[in-house]
Amino acid sequence: MLFMTRLEEALASLRRPDMRDLKETLSAVGCTPRQAEPHVAQPDRLPYGRTVLFRNTEVEAILVHLPARTGTFIHDHGDSLGCAIVVEGELINTVFRTDGRGDAIYASEERVRSGQCLSAPAGLIHRMRNPGAGRTVSLHLYAPPLTGTKTYAEADEYVLDYVI
Ligand SMILES: [Fe+2]
Repeated sequence: MLFMTRLEEALASLRRPDMRDLKETLSAVGCTPRQAEPHVAQPDRLPYGRTVLFRNTEVEAILVHLPARTGTFIHDHGDSLGCAIVVEGELINTVFRTDGRGDAIYASEERVRSGQCLSAPAGLIHRMRNPGAGRTVSLHLYAPPLTGTKTYAEADEYVLDYVI
């Protein structure tokens, strides 16, 4: 079956999916670099390309293209939870927490390679970046569809109690 048909059929049957449902759907659908290729968008207003492959009231699927050495803004996903699989290349997923002023403070980092998944539980603040010389393509599912996402500034690394 064609990739897009498989994706649409799998997603259309989901009702209020949780993280496990999303991950099972991602692995059941699968996506090879060749299947992703016709849908890979070049960056336009954002530093990366994004293509909405499917969207209904329950779930949204987005193909993300991070060109070499680019990254997303630090962001959350509003009230949505999400997961993603790296289809081509690899990415660094950096997780942040917020300080008292709502700025983002580094919490942890993981490298996600081709074929591996990353989870974005509701409330997660993160940034994905492609550290490599080739492109990175990843397939993301969000439930419910993305709305009200926020971006964050990175807090100064050193907060001083005294300036003199
Ligand atoms: Fe994200």
